[in-house]
Amino acid sequence: MDKIYVTGGTPLNGTITISGSKNAALPLMATSLLTADTITLSNVPHIADISTMAHLLLQHGTNLLIDASGGNGGHLGGVIQLTSDNINNIEAPYDLVRKMRASVLVLGPLLARFGKARVSLPGGCAIGTRPIDMHLKALTELGAVIELTEGYIDAHVPGGKLTGTDIHFGKISVGATENALMAATLATGTTTIHNAAKEPEITDLANCLVSMGANIDGIGTHTLTINGVESLHGTHYKVICDRIEAGTFMMAAAATRGTLTLEEVDLDVMTATIELLKDIGVHISTPADNTLKVDAHNATLSPKNVSTEAYPGFATDLQAQYMALMLTIDGSCIIEETIFENRFMHVAELSRMGADILIEGYKATVHGGKPLKNAELMATDLRASVCLVIAALAAQGDSVINRMYHIDRGYERIEEKLAKCGAKIRRAR
Ligand code: EPZ
Repeated sequence: MDKIYVTGGTPLNGTITISGSKNAALPLMATSLLTADTITLSNVPHIADISTMAHLLLQHGTNLLIDASGGNGGHLGGVIQLTSDNINNIEAPYDLVRKMRASVLVLGPLLARFGKARVSLPGGCAIGTRPIDMHLKALTELGAVIELTEGYIDAHVPGGKLTGTDIHFGKISVGATENALMAATLATGTTTIHNAAKEPEITDLANCLVSMGANIDGIGTHTLTINGVESLHGTHYKVICDRIEAGTFMMAAAATRGTLTLEEVDLDVMTATIELLKDIGVHISTPADNTLKVDAHNATLSPKNVSTEAYPGFATDLQAQYMALMLTIDGSCIIEETIFENRFMHVAELSRMGADILIEGYKATVHGGKPLKNAELMATDLRASVCLVIAALAAQGDSVINRMYHIDRGYERIEEKLAKCGAKIRRAR
């Protein structure tokens, strides 16, 4: 099981190219199930979750042609061609779904095109129970009959075709919006999704579906109107940049008081992160198109309270990274997690580095400025793991982070990208 060894205390200095978005690429791969034509995706990150989604689609019968250039650990990515003209299995098995909750995104497409699906319930994960009740409610409203048997979702569509309807989500859900959106593209009639999530990854999915012949209005808003079509055709589509990877490296640059230039960044989707880091005193500039320069060299930073929110607010996926940054700054602040019920798993490990953090419900009061001590650390989930990397980079001395597989799920060759910017970091078994 891979570990990361970090010797902290060196400011990052260099340039990093941001990869394609994990959370856009996963639903984009699932769109392959909506058509018999070939979908070609480019800028797909080489990460473990992409490999997992590829294996899931392969066992459904999708044909995959994949860019040979492997990324970290040879994970699939780059340019992927997907052709689902011979789907012979409508079951998504527990052993794959339990590894990656996003596997549930095959449910909507399978129901839309084939009128049936058997998908394992995802179960909980480190950051919370993460139910899928909203996914199932929306698909039921579209005409699916859903039973839960032996830990599986057994779903079928009487008459074979979903029927357009009005869907009202009680709260913002990225995955539920994605499942409903994909399902509605092939439904008979019009579907309006009210209180839809409008994360950039949803916009990317909607734009890709339109390039496949879907009829969608309201893209980029909380109200999506989909006029169902008879069928969808193939497309070539480039995955948007990973705003969470970009935000992660911005926090790492600030935490080490370094200077990083990030390339291939869509500045329009980074506003909340850019404004927050400017507010604490980080100098941020845009020296070229799709390029961000983060300069915290010799900067005097000040802490700032933050609450995670749905887009365009501050992303929950950057909460742990921001906490690590706050630990390097004199003063106290309150970080509130409003999206997930258990997303402070990183606090216990940070405390083992000497961090002074008090958790009260959904709020963490962070007392920063005390030197972080190196330690042997345990990763628990994707973003908590990268938070520990940032803390180790800012601490003095040698730290070890175990269970690197968590990080490999969502970050492409993270130790290579950081080492190129002066970090003393290496991977070993
Ligand atoms: C997506 O997860 C992302 N994953 C998450 O990123 C991200 O944190 C999250 O959206 C919020 O932005 C992918 O896109 C693959 P939700 P998702 O449905 O769709 C509750 C990462 O680190 N809920 O928006 O699962 C849920 O429990 C990952 O890259 C229900 O109650 O998130 C949560 O509290 C982590 N019922 C809240 O809504 C449902 O049916 C938001 O969840 C669905 C969700």
